[in-house]
Amino acid sequence: MGVWNPHSWQAFPALQQPEYPDPSALEAVLARLRRLPPLVVPDEVDRLRQLLAEAALGKRFLLQGGDCAEQFRDCQPETIADKLRVLLQMSVVLTHIGRRPVIRVGRIAGQYAKPRSNPTEQVRGQEIPSYRGDLVNGLEATPESRRPDPERMSQAYFHAAATLNFIRGLIDGGFADLHHPERWELPRQSHRAYRAVLDQVRESLEFLATLGNLERGALERIDFFTSHEALLLPFEEALTRWVPEQQSHYNLGAHMLWVGDRTRVPGGAHLEFLRGLANPIGVKAGPGAAPEDLVRILEFLDPHQVPGRITVVTRFGAGRIRELLPPLVRAVRRAGRVVLWCCDPMHGNGVTSGRGLKTRRFDDILSELRQCFELHREEGSRLGGVHFELTGEDVTECTGGIEGLSEADLPRAYETGCDPRLNGTQSLEMAFLIAQVLRDEGRPGGLLAPASR
Ligand code: PEP
Ligand code: CO
Repeated sequence: MGVWNPHSWQAFPALQQPEYPDPSALEAVLARLRRLPPLVVPDEVDRLRQLLAEAALGKRFLLQGGDCAEQFRDCQPETIADKLRVLLQMSVVLTHIGRRPVIRVGRIAGQYAKPRSNPTEQVRGQEIPSYRGDLVNGLEATPESRRPDPERMSQAYFHAAATLNFIRGLIDGGFADLHHPERWELPRQSHRAYRAVLDQVRESLEFLATLGNLERGALERIDFFTSHEALLLPFEEALTRWVPEQQSHYNLGAHMLWVGDRTRVPGGAHLEFLRGLANPIGVKAGPGAAPEDLVRILEFLDPHQVPGRITVVTRFGAGRIRELLPPLVRAVRRAGRVVLWCCDPMHGNGVTSGRGLKTRRFDDILSELRQCFELHREEGSRLGGVHFELTGEDVTECTGGIEGLSEADLPRAYETGCDPRLNGTQSLEMAFLIAQVLRDEGRPGGLLAPASR
């Protein structure tokens, strides 16, 4: 293993990178990005790593979610507030029913780059570059819009900054205050079970307040963290900074970064880049992840076994998780490593609808999640988090859920730039179903019950 620095990745093969036609234009943008202020600060990154370390031990639960591909055009107050709101709603349900404090991590304020299966696609008889996310090129299916444009990196930085600034403002302004969870009702939402949870939360708060038990400010304070896939390496490198107080390099473009299932190849540039950062790192593991490769990746990324450093995000599909997850869990345990296991029940459950739209069925998503909890329990391990593609908006991209969306409903509000997301109602319903599993695990005889530990 050679000496690491923020550009040492350049000596390794980098998958999924666009070809920029004008290297001097690329360098000009990167030079500007390197001088701009960071989007997050090292203390926040360290705090998230500590919280994730607790989640790995079963003391907290990770909720990570947001768009598959954030788009610049969605950098609007309502869209951002809706996304924050749905994540807060889900976390209150998980905390209250599931009885575990929740760590909220958005796929937000920087989730602008997408890996693609094919570098090009056929559109109206013409071969054009695939859309690689707003960070790289435009969604519009024309050769001009699909040409990689380095100026988009600068736009991504400013859109991420605006998004995060608004989120911080909302939170500082009391948007997330547990005394006023009614602020998080989605406009069209009439979820009776959710209202009942809010009433219970309110009652418990009043009760605790009468006992004088509440730490001042504890409920007004809320942690919310950002994450995205570290895919476009020149951009990620430009947001990486040396922090003298910590004597470490941090990527200060987000609190947490993850490496995708397509780019987590041993010997590749993505792992080389990530290994030198102090940030918590997610590693996506799909059906192609061999147990011995995963262990190698973990040893490479985290040689000193820093608590909270690694979250393994598995995404196999409801039909394959039973065959594929247990060997990974056993291999990681045999290697003597502790990781936070997180379930992404979205990316292994894609199907194409009769009308050719990419979709996912609510029941497949739920089935993978339930099996994931169960399989970890059978292996003497524990599932410590969930990872969703979701939005607060009333889209029709995934089928099923209490509204019973069918394939015929999909074209009505199909707006994703990439993969299909759960809408606000489906997300909240999912949170209730997960919370019940968490609650049952905590009961006598359950996985998290004190007697069984
Ligand atoms: C994603 O999270 O949007 C993604 C592309 O996932 P994966 O790397 O697991 O395929
Ligand atoms: Co996706």
